[in-house]
Amino acid sequence: MTEQVSQIVIAVDGPAAAGKGTLSRLLASHYRLSHLDTGLTYRATAKALLDRGLPLDDEDMAAEIARTLDLGRLDRSVLSAHEIGEAASKVAVMPKVRRALVEAQRVFAATPPGSVLDGRDIGTVVCPNALIKFYVTASPEVRARRRHDEITANGGSADLDGILADIIKRDARDAERADSPLRPASDAHLLDTTKMSIETAFEAARILVDAALEH
Ligand code: DC
Repeated sequence: MTEQVSQIVIAVDGPAAAGKGTLSRLLASHYRLSHLDTGLTYRATAKALLDRGLPLDDEDMAAEIARTLDLGRLDRSVLSAHEIGEAASKVAVMPKVRRALVEAQRVFAATPPGSVLDGRDIGTVVCPNALIKFYVTASPEVRARRRHDEITANGGSADLDGILADIIKRDARDAERADSPLRPASDAHLLDTTKMSIETAFEAARILVDAALEH
């Protein structure tokens, strides 16, 4: 796979519920770039397997689904369920699935007017030549609390301890897998949102992007 990117790309990586999605949407809107939440591509692949009653470790079937995924039809409202995130993290360990999805993500990144991609391996694997890279993190407790509040604000019920346990398990699975593990690129800017609002993180990121655009 060759990297096809020649447009402006902002890479945003980090663990679950760190705020990278919100930060990416704010950046995309400010710089008039398109935005791809690459987690949705793994979620859509996992959901298709679940819907067909297939096991989550059927690599060939999962890769076939990944190859035919329409990135224009990823519906966050259908894919955002906590259980689908868990299933996506399992599907994401399979190299054939990653190859297919990374290919599609690179095509998206190379499409004008440029883009913000968020995920786990954008700065390290998908777009190593991105204009600028961010790694957004926060303590597991703060991330669990944010996810909990998001679910209850939408009228759902959520168990804080259960969410925290899942977040810790998911961090380990994402960071310990052999293919494209979750880790900051060596040239990523770290944004720890444990004690920082997403708006403050956006301001910090905006100043860094403006500086990168001037060079
Ligand atoms: O960001 P998210 O919670 O929607 O991601 C769901 C899972 O998908 C995550 O636990 C790991 C996987 N993922 C990945 O491996 N690589 C990405 N670029 C994005 C997500």
